[in-house]
Amino acid sequence: MDFHELVQTARSCRRFEDKPLNMADLEWLADCARLTPSGMNAQVVRYTLVTKGDLLAKLFALTRWGGALKDWGGPHPGERPTVFIALLMPKKTTELMHFDIGIAAQTIQLAATSRGWGCCIIKSFDQAASAELLKIPTEMQIALLLGLGVAKEKRVIAPMPADGSFKYWRDANGVHYVPKRSLEELIVARY
Ligand SMILES: Cc1cc2nc3c(=O)[nH]c(=O)nc-3n(C[C@H](O)[C@H](O)[C@H](O)COP(=O)(O)O)c2cc1C
Repeated sequence: MDFHELVQTARSCRRFEDKPLNMADLEWLADCARLTPSGMNAQVVRYTLVTKGDLLAKLFALTRWGGALKDWGGPHPGERPTVFIALLMPKKTTELMHFDIGIAAQTIQLAATSRGWGCCIIKSFDQAASAELLKIPTEMQIALLLGLGVAKEKRVIAPMPADGSFKYWRDANGVHYVPKRSLEELIVARY
């Protein structure tokens, strides 16, 4: 798969096979993120890797999935993420740290896709309860949660609808469509 195809395939995944990833898989993903660019090379991002069933279930309950799909309350039992990675950054944060978090998240999403796994970046979660559950060090906070597993759902890029809505949707067969703006709309100038 060439790089453009990898990026195209790496759609957010919210339904997973009932085949758990393991700690070595998560360590490989974190190791990919470890090697990425970092503001001032300070490398402030930290990783909490979650594979244990009891913690997974409790953490999943603190997360919100697919808010734009109004008739869907998130993945059902048997199709939930089989592991999580929490991306941590200092509570005393700077703008640069947020860029590092984004780079780490997308690197993990691409790395997961390269192995046939799916990933969904989750910002909508109960910060206080998740930090307590995962025993996050007091000087750190969870910037993002990444839900991962073997990808189950079909996800397709669609052109932007005529009404300009950027909301994703699903068809009657459960195929997930993600509208993306055209390149022409995005390039502001060519010099
Ligand atoms: C910073 C960030 C936060 C996100 N938070 C959530 C979330 O809380 N729940 C969720 O289901 N998806 C979340 N997503 C996934 C977006 O909904 C998704 O990226 C968007 O719909 C575009 O789909 P695509 O990733 O397939 O291109 C988040 C994505 C990003 C980049």
